[in-house]
Order: sequence, then structure tokens, then C-alpha cells
Amino acid sequence: MSTNTRGQWGTKIGFIMAAAGSAIGLGNIWRFPYTVSENGGGAFVLIYILCVLLLGFPLLITEIALGRMNQKGTVSAFETKKYTFLKIIPFLAILTSFMILSYYVVIAGWIIGFLFITLFKINVNFTEFISDAKYTLSFTILFFLATIFIVKAGISKGIEKTSKIMMPLFFIIILGIATRTMFLDGALAGIKYYLQPDFSKITGNVFLSALGQSFLSLSLGMGVLITYGSYLDKKTNIITAAFWVTIMDTLIAIFAGLMIFPAIFAFGKEPQAGPTLVFTILPEIFNAMPFGNIIGALFFLLLSIAAITSSISVFEVSTAHAIDQYKWSRQKACYILGTIGIIFAIPSALSTGANQFLSTELSINFFGKIQTGLIDILDFSFGTFFIVITTLLISIYAGWFSNLTHLKQEITESSPNFNKKIIGVIPSQLFLILIRWIIPLIILIILADIMNLI
Ligand code: PHE
Repeated sequence: MSTNTRGQWGTKIGFIMAAAGSAIGLGNIWRFPYTVSENGGGAFVLIYILCVLLLGFPLLITEIALGRMNQKGTVSAFETKKYTFLKIIPFLAILTSFMILSYYVVIAGWIIGFLFITLFKINVNFTEFISDAKYTLSFTILFFLATIFIVKAGISKGIEKTSKIMMPLFFIIILGIATRTMFLDGALAGIKYYLQPDFSKITGNVFLSALGQSFLSLSLGMGVLITYGSYLDKKTNIITAAFWVTIMDTLIAIFAGLMIFPAIFAFGKEPQAGPTLVFTILPEIFNAMPFGNIIGALFFLLLSIAAITSSISVFEVSTAHAIDQYKWSRQKACYILGTIGIIFAIPSALSTGANQFLSTELSINFFGKIQTGLIDILDFSFGTFFIVITTLLISIYAGWFSNLTHLKQEITESSPNFNKKIIGVIPSQLFLILIRWIIPLIILIILADIMNLI
């Protein structure tokens, strides 16, 4: 196969593993647990699950179908001659994916760093590590190079093969660590802290966080599933594939908290560390365990696997775009975009201490929510706000501007039950009501609420 032709998934399970690999990432293991504990515990989990089922799952089906329908990357999937303004959607999606990747690789770089620190018991603490440009830059670049290397190898030989090996390994490690920590003495208090519902904390911003978290976690709104869907053969049942990805992603997110919080409580630590939780408290806990360095290294290996199977999916979005649109070879696209990506990541790598302006002076006030430091600003603007906006636009595009008959056919072709009456409802009709009305309305109400418009 020449580097210029579009690739295809070798097997159905390969596609599911790659899509699940994209979905299951730092969002699940690093971001979800502290977001839950900050936003009302079990009450947030309930809202999150509702967002996933009512919005995330149908949107996942939509994005995959849009991709497969056109057999092209994100931009060409929005085939619209009449409404040129809709062309903004794929560009927003690519921008969002690129900006998310720019800070995601920095956090992934910390993880690779901590993998070594834990395994070899190197004496560097988290604050020292993230404020030292030589550490953050080198590990960020190392991680980015690994991402480029896999994407350069192509769809089935690079992305699919990596995901098929790494995802099962991931499941084994997470199961092993969670069983170990859930049976520690005092673990129950951690589970309570993590999941006890506190409805008094639920505000418009919490809804937005749940929405943003669910979209980010499922890799929606970034063109990932449109791109991955474009490499899918017509036989694969889109609905079951989307179902498995949704279930795995959600269970792993909830499970991640069950792996982390019991350990924190069992060792009498304070759980409020937020985003730094896995880098500050967990290494201490690992230190106190027999063979702690091995368990700790396994934990960071788990996070690295989660991170790389997600970063390759985001990097593939712009690579596919360059291949389809500019007719670049895969290799050329990877080198050029990789260089731009690394340049984009540098400011984030310096924004956790190495550069004072980027770390503590830069801040934005987003409708009363203040974010300081470039990583937090990017994570909020793109990882929560823009991702919600782009996903909203994708839903509006699919529901109102795309060829609905074609879209419905695309899904039905591999899932005949989509158009048959099941317990009194026809799934395809329900699906259309969701993407045309319910999903856009829910998102708009939440956005209006945080902007104090209602
Ligand atoms: N779904 C990923 C996660 O949960 C988010 C992500 C997707 C990040 C793609 C980078 C690229 O971590």
C-alpha cells in the first residue's frame, strides 16, 4: 500500500479497540476522579451518566456514521455546497483537537517522567519536576515523538496494532491495581468520599463540566470519530461498536476513582489535591507499599498507555486532513504537523513553573470562573467550552443540514434493527429527535445558564 492511499481498519475489533483507546485516556484516569470529587461526588456521576447516555452515545453514532458516509477526513465529511458557513465546524473541530493535544502531551510527559521516577526511586518531587523546563520539555517532546511514530506507521499497522496490544494490557493492569486498593483497610471511606451524592453542589457550571467531561472522554467534537469512521468498512455495526466504546469508557472512568480514592483514605492522606492528585499523593502511597515501585510504575504505565492511544487519535485527525485535502504523503503530514504540534506544546510545557508569566500571571475570567496558568486555561477553554460548542454544531449539522436519509441509511446498512419497531419505538426516529431537538436544546440551556442569560 502506498503512503498516499487511505488506510482501512483490518478488523472490527481493531476499530473498537482503537476507538476505545481514543476514548479511554487521561480524561478517565486523571481528570474524571478529581472532577467528581470537586463537583458533588455521586450527584455528578449521575449527571455524567445521563450526559453520556442521552447525548454522548447518539453523538458517537452520528460522528462515526458521518465519517463512514463520506470516507474522508473531518473537513470533507461536512459536504455542504449550499451553506458555506457550516465549513467553520470542521475547522473548529480540528482547532479544538490540536489545542487539546498541545497540553495533553505535556501531562502525558509528566506521566512518562513519573514512570521513571517511581520505578527507579529517583528523588524528585512533583513541584520540582513540573517547574523544571528541562524535564517538562524533554518528556513532552519524547511523548510527542512516540505519537508521531505510531501515526506515521498508518491505520492498521500503526494505530490499530498499537491499540490491539495496549488496550488488553491496560484492562489487566487497571483490574489488578483496583482489586489491590479496594481491599485495603479503610478503603470504604474513600469510596464514600468519591461517590457520596451532594446535590447542593450542583450548579450550571457543574452541568457544563459534566457535559464537557463526557464529550472529552468519548473523544467527541474533535473529529476523531469522524476520521476513524472514515476508515471503517460498511459491514461493521456502528451502533454496537459505539455501544461498546461508551460502556468501556464510562466503566473505566468510574473504576479509576475506585482505584485511587480507597488508597488515599487507607493511607490517611488528604484527597483534595485535584489535578495533582495522581502525582503527589499516589507516589507517597506506592512508596509505603511492599514492591511499591513496581506497583507505582505499573500505574504510570497504565496512564501512559491510556494517553498514547488517545493522542494518536487526535494527531490522526489533522494528519488525515492533510493527506485528503493537500494530498501529502502520510510521512510528510506527520513530520510537518508533528513539528507544529511540538511548537504548540512548548508554552504549555513551560506553564507549570518554568515561566512565571505563563504559570501564574496569565488568567481568564470565564463567567465568574477564574482559570490561571496556560494549561488550566487551555483545558477549560478547549477541553470544556469549545468541545461543547463544536459538538453542539456537529449535532445541528447532522440533524438539520446533512442528508438525513443518507445518514439513516448509513447506520441502518450495518444495523438493520435501527429501523425496526422495538418495544413500541423505532430507534431511528428516536435518534433523529435526539440529534435534531433534544441534544441541541440541552446544550443551549446549559450554555445560556452559565452565561446568566436565563
Ligand atoms: N478521550 C480522551 C480522554 O479521555 C481525550 C482525548 C482524546 C485526549 C483525544 C486527547 C486526544 O483522555
